[in-house]
Amino acid sequence: MTRRIAIFASGSGSNAEKIAEHLTNSTDVEITLILSNSPKAGVIDRARRLHIPVLLFDRTTFYESSRVIRLLQEQQIDLIVLAGFMWLMPSELVQAFPNRIINIHPALLPKFGGKGMYGHFVHEAVVAAGETESGITIHYVNERYDEGQVIFQARCPVTPTDSPEDVARNVQKLEHEHYPRVIADLVAAL
Ligand code: GAR
Repeated sequence: MTRRIAIFASGSGSNAEKIAEHLTNSTDVEITLILSNSPKAGVIDRARRLHIPVLLFDRTTFYESSRVIRLLQEQQIDLIVLAGFMWLMPSELVQAFPNRIINIHPALLPKFGGKGMYGHFVHEAVVAAGETESGITIHYVNERYDEGQVIFQARCPVTPTDSPEDVARNVQKLEHEHYPRVIADLVAAL
């Protein structure tokens, strides 16, 4: 039976593309849908190139209707993957997919997580705090930002001369290396 993944993404979409590449030859997993709140996001062009259908939605649709949940249910989605999606998941959605929503965060949670801690803000905070390491956290999603159970972490060193851009580059390398594989392992165990 083919397992079906939906990816929520609102940024450049580099993780979404790496995940798609990793799964491209798999006969038992497919990326059924990419969902985004941002029509101008790089991920939209990538999805088009990868021939993956896109659903765009706005804040009202997401938080005040059940359209997105209904669609995910109709499409029989097995796993929801957040890859650069910055809005909090509504609790109705979390409850409809228990232990079936995962996120990647560009730091070693529980440090540098929570509302407003996303993208470059995270790397700036890591450098400002004089951290000697950073990394990635892949975790289950609940109704609070960055607080669900941790599935996997990987680390990279941060040197005193590293800029936030240097940290971002090293963290992105870890994301691309590990997220596709962790997703494939989780789907295989469903
Ligand atoms: C990734 O670094 C991801 O960890 C981060 O957004 C970036 C998306 O990059 N997510 C968060 O900060 C969530 N709090 P991409 O669009 O190139 O995949």
